[in-house]
This record gives sequence, structure tokens and C-alpha cells, in this order.
Amino acid sequence: MSALFTLALFALYPARVFAKFGQQICSANPFLDPKHDPCNALEYIANNTLTATTVGMYLAVGFCHIFSSFKWGAKWMSSMTIGIFTYVIGFIFRFVLHNHPDSKGAYIVEYLFIVLSPCAFIAAEYVLLGRLALDLNAAQHLRISPRRVTPFFVASDVTTFLIQQRVKAAGGSISISSNDVKTNKLGSNIFLAGLALQLLSFALFTCMYIRFLYLVHRHSPEVWTRDRNSRLWYSDWRVLACAFLVSCAGILVRSVFRVIELSQGFKGPLATSEGAFYGLDTLPLFVAVSAYVPFWPGRFIGRQDVSPAPHASHSDDSEKVST
Ligand SMILES: *[C@@H]1O[C@H](CO)[C@@H](O)[C@H](O)[C@H]1NC(C)=O
Repeated sequence: MSALFTLALFALYPARVFAKFGQQICSANPFLDPKHDPCNALEYIANNTLTATTVGMYLAVGFCHIFSSFKWGAKWMSSMTIGIFTYVIGFIFRFVLHNHPDSKGAYIVEYLFIVLSPCAFIAAEYVLLGRLALDLNAAQHLRISPRRVTPFFVASDVTTFLIQQRVKAAGGSISISSNDVKTNKLGSNIFLAGLALQLLSFALFTCMYIRFLYLVHRHSPEVWTRDRNSRLWYSDWRVLACAFLVSCAGILVRSVFRVIELSQGFKGPLATSEGAFYGLDTLPLFVAVSAYVPFWPGRFIGRQDVSPAPHASHSDDSEKVST
């Protein structure tokens, strides 16, 4: 539902942006000196090799997600899958920017898709924790009930998304196309607030998740070792728990980067560095989404029908029978 909502906002947005173009004096030849071209928002020419590599890698991960969700279920991960494809749309606009470095429309669309798509990744992480806690029957170790943890954090996700949307609409697109430092500062500050809130709620979420793992380990050893006798090492839910942690770390790195980047303004040193963008946004997010390619949640969660190994003779078996 939230994915659909997000998608609808994505679809509506560029139309409003395109209506707000500003006029400006640009360099006669935008390729000569991109660093000092007032119309070049990136201040560099987007590298097509890097763009194509990224598109290829993200598409591969996206198709793996689709394949996995058909093979093993967990369709509730689809907001991440959709986010991967909208992220790729952003990169397609980097091809446009390579040829038309002064196009504000291409820049705004590129920026929006790349900065807002991770909201969909984050929404999937929120859903995953709720599902994991329910599947492990370990809801008591979450501070918020697992049935509420998803709505709560997804609501905060949508709120920060809307703040970012609003600002891009109200101030952002104006500030990008304006040379007025004041307008630029205002737009980036409000947008920064949205990103900072997102970072805050995701950091809180990650703490809650780590606390959850700790409490399960400490107080519910039978849950912690639930899959000990099962199948193969990579069928143990703790492997999924690790992939989940890696994924959260990737999103945190990117969120911290975006907050620092924007605190320097839309034209700060980090915002105008292609290396920083790839190293601190594209790569960490790639780690975050590809962590679930080998360890698709559907393989671990919601498959209780798979009976444990017959020779299992541990103390927790009697409990399982009685429940
Ligand atoms: C684009 O990036 C690749 C890989 O880093 C590099 O080899 C190539 O020289 C870059 N192209 C331009 C035009 O900067």
C-alpha cells in the first residue's frame, strides 16, 4: 500500500517540477568548464561508464528480487524491488545529463528518483523486522509490537518523504534554478530536515533491531538456536539476521552521507563530487539491496512447514510439541 502511494507520488512529481523552470545565462559550451558553469548543477559531466555499470548492477539485483519473490515468497519485500527500479530511472537521467549537462529538468528528475527511492528500501526493512519477530514468535523482545512496528516506521518514512517532496516542490526546484544564495539555502535546509529525520528514525530502528537480537540471544536461547539442526548453515535465520544488519549499515552510511552533503548546500563540495556520490550513496545502497539476493527473507521466514531434522533431540522439542 505504502509502495503504491510512494509510486503515485513519484509519478505525479516531475510534472510539477517541469512547470517551474527558471531562466539563466549558461556557458556557451557546457563541456568546456563544467565546474564553473552556473547551469550545471552537478558541476561535472556525468560519467557514462559509471552510469551504465550502475544501471546494469542494480537491474541484475532487481531481477533477482523478482525471481526470489516468485520462488520463495515474501512479496512484502516488493517495496524494495520497486525502489530499485525507480532508483535505476534516476540513473537513466544521468545519461541525459551526460549529453545535456545544463538541463535542469533532467537534473531535478535524476535527483528526486535517486534521493527518494531509498525511502522504499527503508520501508521494506521496517516490514522485515515485524515479519521476523512474528515468525520467531519473539514479539516480546521488540519495544513496539511487531504489528505496530511496521506502520509506525513506515509512517515516519512517508512523513520524511513528504517533507522532502514538499521542499523540492516549494523551494528545491526554485533554489536549484536560482542563483540567489538565500533561496538556495532555505530550500536545502528544509530538505535537510527531511533527510535528518529519516536518518534519525532509521538509526532508532537499527538500535531497536540490534536490541531485539541481543534479547533473543540472551533470553530466548531456544528461539536463537531454532534452526541449529536444520538443513544447511545458510538456512539458519541468524544468517538472514546478519544480512539484515549489513543492509541496515549500508542505508545508514548513505543516510549520514546525504545529511552531511546537504548541510553543505545543493552546491557543496560533496554534492558536486562524482566520487563521493558513487562511494557514499550508490555503493552502500547497492550493498543494502544486494544483501538479500543470496539471503532472500522468504527462504527463512514463513516456512515453518519445513519439518526439523528427524534426529533432533534437544530439550526445546518437547515445548514445541506442546504448543
Ligand atoms: C569514467 O569512469 C571510468 C571508470 O572509473 C574511467 O576509466 C573513465 O576514464 C571515465 N571517463 C571519463 C570521461 O571521465
